[in-house]
Amino acid sequence: MFTSDSQSQKKPVTITLTGAGGQIGYATMFRIAAGEMLGADTPVRLRLLEIPPRGVKAAEGAAMELEDCAFELLESVDIFDDPQQAFEGANIGMLIGAHPRTAGMERADLLEANGAIFSQQGAAISKSAADDIKVVVVGNPANTNALIAASHAPDVPSERFTALTRLDHHRALAQLAAATNTRVSDIKKLAIWGNHSASQYPDVFNARIAGRAARGVLREHGKDEQWISGVFIPKVAKRGAEIIEVRGGSSVASAAHGAISHMRSWILGSGGEPVSMGVLSAGQYGVTEGIISSFPVICDNGCYEIDNSYEIDEFSQKYIDKTVQELLDEKEAVKTLGLLGESL
Ligand code: NAD
Ligand code: LMR
Repeated sequence: MFTSDSQSQKKPVTITLTGAGGQIGYATMFRIAAGEMLGADTPVRLRLLEIPPRGVKAAEGAAMELEDCAFELLESVDIFDDPQQAFEGANIGMLIGAHPRTAGMERADLLEANGAIFSQQGAAISKSAADDIKVVVVGNPANTNALIAASHAPDVPSERFTALTRLDHHRALAQLAAATNTRVSDIKKLAIWGNHSASQYPDVFNARIAGRAARGVLREHGKDEQWISGVFIPKVAKRGAEIIEVRGGSSVASAAHGAISHMRSWILGSGGEPVSMGVLSAGQYGVTEGIISSFPVICDNGCYEIDNSYEIDEFSQKYIDKTVQELLDEKEAVKTLGLLGESL
């Protein structure tokens, strides 16, 4: 149906996107089809997963609009309500479908409501996805949902299940640039540590702005450690709640942009610069093994590696310990709910 005259040389990539009838799904799929995630030389096949009847109907409507865009790179769009069919042959899983929080909730309040979705989808990915499957979990609480999915996927290396913290990374970049009157592109070595929650630690202590230590540049702009702990960190960590309050609903286009950037970096590389991703800890930086925590990672050639060049002082350690403890508590909670599988 969506035939193409494109002279692409690369093999088509199959992407399963869940929650395709929802807001973030809608904001993501057109950009993928336009080549913004995998590049203008890579055709894509979209497999959309939703729940009937309304979700599926909304996905059908979105598929009609995709058709009307006549994207050259879009080879096919198929819609499913069965996870195993939806993940058949998938090279990429964008796990967006889940309930969003509303005003007054913390993301962890969604654990029970959303956890079951991810155990089912982890198992489906294990059974039917392609051998090179890469997964980003967007649905909240993203880190622990990614852990749940990984724990139900015995045939997929757990490192392939990641959680979205790139949105937090972008938020931190934007706030730091605004505070120092610099460009986002001047800022390097920023990092988000821990959970995609209010406990996350956006770390400026390792950051460089136009080649100089960010702390020195901040000081020149009248921003000391008190500004970092009292203004910057809470601003970034609570930005999701602020968006909900102001917009009347949780972030959409910025979340879609984060998810696209996450996958783009993972697959096409991060150009030697660290970006933040929620990945399985093997104990790096003292983060307890067996949780999905945000780290600075460098991506190259379809792989990511945790950047081991960050210095962690007492100030940073205190924050990291707190957010890691929250991830451990979430893990314990899902274990108690019977949502954690055995393959971790
Ligand atoms: P939405 O309510 O607009 O859409 C969610 C969609 O998921 C709905 O269409 C629903 O039918 C579908 N869905 C529910 N269960 C499903 C299942 N089992 N399989 C397939 N689809 C299913 O919500 P949204 O605004 O698109 O947000 C989606 C999720 O992303 C929420 O959990 C939200 O909190 C989270 N989020 C995460 C980040 C992040 O940075 N990690 C940022 C923003 C939002
Ligand atoms: C965000 O950070 O905007 C999302 O995780 C939505 C939320 O619930 O905060």
